[in-house]
Amino acid sequence: MLDEEGREINYLRISVTDLCNLRCRYCIPEEGILKKCHSDILSVEEIEQIVKVSSKLGVKKVRLTGGEPLVRKGIVELVKKISNIQGINEVALTTNGTLLKKYAKSLKEAGLKRVNISIDTLQEKKYEYITKGGKLQDVLDGIKAAKESGLSPLKFNVVLIKGFNDDEIENFVNLTLENEVDIRFIELMPIGENGDWAQRHFIPNTIVLDKNPDLIPVASKDKSAPAKHYKLPGAKGRVGLINPISSHFCSSCNRIRLTADGKVKPCLHSNEEIDIRSTLRQGGNVLPILTKAIKVKPKQHHMNEEDYTPIAREMVQIGG
Ligand code: 5AD
Ligand code: SF4
Repeated sequence: MLDEEGREINYLRISVTDLCNLRCRYCIPEEGILKKCHSDILSVEEIEQIVKVSSKLGVKKVRLTGGEPLVRKGIVELVKKISNIQGINEVALTTNGTLLKKYAKSLKEAGLKRVNISIDTLQEKKYEYITKGGKLQDVLDGIKAAKESGLSPLKFNVVLIKGFNDDEIENFVNLTLENEVDIRFIELMPIGENGDWAQRHFIPNTIVLDKNPDLIPVASKDKSAPAKHYKLPGAKGRVGLINPISSHFCSSCNRIRLTADGKVKPCLHSNEEIDIRSTLRQGGNVLPILTKAIKVKPKQHHMNEEDYTPIAREMVQIGG
């Protein structure tokens, strides 16, 4: 379906849980997140129903996010149900990778196409610091399992953090020489309580090009993909730059979001949320709600304006 700006909305991102087994400093505020009641969270069947209706409106691709989607009970069953919906031709998942060793094979069998794995450092101690206790080895085991299960091509998300991982940029870029992977550098966004922290640790993505002058721009296959792609000469993989702040990609945005507690978000950076859960639970028709969410999708975000206030919901509650 087209929105008011003529953008075709065909991509639904679903946060399946607010919970995560890590505590990344830019994602989860110091005081933690209030845990939602079980009954606030959409069930597997409710999510399936919303995806069915979305597919009638032209949604073709679904991405499951969190929190950490693999801590959600029934995640494999959910992947299976969504993969079987007519019109949905791609189900992908964004994960911190720590539980992939356990789940990669069954996710693949359930119909999952691909995974994006978040990994902000390749050093054990630093990984433990940024995630407040995570073990890098768990992610490395997860990556191996994902490869062996055929969840490919693998994409990695690296959030750029000043004074933390700017010294590892070249190491990450060099991984693309021998591996058929995408390394995507993401600019740190000011979200929720951690907005201040993020503003202080922000580095523009252009640093990646400054440090790697050999990178050559390559055309992206998918015009609505938020990453601009580059390659090192002769490399097997690609480097992606995602610049939500310095050059926003709102004009080609093709997505809407569903939160774990049943709200539709037309835009990540707007506080606008439309409740779909109560209608669903009253046995009502959710099609008009999804249609409205697409209709009211804002033209663009205002993050790069001076008086911008970060949105209230935390990233762990939206899923990036
Ligand atoms: N800014 C940029 N990226 C973020 N992520 C989580 N919080 C932020 C933020 N404030 C990333 C995660 C993951 C993806 C879902 O979003 O690292 O890769
Ligand atoms: Fe968990 Fe991802 Fe947030 Fe880290 S960034 S705390 S892995 S949801």
